[in-house]
Amino acid sequence: MEKRKQLYEGKAKKVYATDDPELLIVSYKDDATAFNGLKKGTIAGKGVINNKMSNRLMQQLEKAGVPTHFVKELSDRETLVKKVSIVPLEVIVRNIAAGSFSKRYGVEEGKAFIHPTIEFSYKNDELGDPLLNTDQALVLGLVSKEEVETIRAYSYRINAFLQAFWRSCGVTLVDFKLEFGRLNDGTIVLADEISPDTCRLWDSKTGEKLDKDRFRRDLGGVEEAYQEIMKRLETQLM
Ligand code: TMP
Repeated sequence: MEKRKQLYEGKAKKVYATDDPELLIVSYKDDATAFNGLKKGTIAGKGVINNKMSNRLMQQLEKAGVPTHFVKELSDRETLVKKVSIVPLEVIVRNIAAGSFSKRYGVEEGKAFIHPTIEFSYKNDELGDPLLNTDQALVLGLVSKEEVETIRAYSYRINAFLQAFWRSCGVTLVDFKLEFGRLNDGTIVLADEISPDTCRLWDSKTGEKLDKDRFRRDLGGVEEAYQEIMKRLETQLM
């Protein structure tokens, strides 16, 4: 499958048309941003790692009964995916307090929850991705009631799967962000990516951060952390 016209360039990926109107090619970049694009940088090799990691995890999730946009890995950085219209919600699942949750509610980072939480943000860079509840998502016309229920059910299933998977790699899944899309026939599928850009992943023994927080917070060792988390995943899936 050949890349045709570039349709879109996001912060971390480019999207191309193909000769099949139902299929797109995504190309993962090394560019990194944080705080809605205020902080910019490059993480060498990130595009390759995120492409492969996201594809491996989506293949596993398909087996676990979660439909995804994944079709085929084309190269180190490029993947063929089903064309979707993205549901403009960022779905954040948390198992342990961190990041904006800790800040907003004054909870120490690292405090484990008695059960996972799901929160939604309106995916809108101009507005700074504001938090919103399902009633608000419904009245804004972002999703239907049925779609929200599907998204919620998939998100919990994805969390259970990923938590167990990362635990087997010696990694604690703190939280992560998902995006879903609609196929032509309205079917909801997992889209976007699952990578160290979109998850908080802590070494289970040392608590060392193995994700994009190293970039966001200037902790150093960013490339090494991406390589380490990819190595853990590959060892586990061998
Ligand atoms: P937060 O604590 O900053 O709200 O982030 C929660 C999770 O969502 C964390 O794993 C990082 C991920 N995330 C994204 O993937 N994209 C974003 O734009 C933000 C703000 C967070």
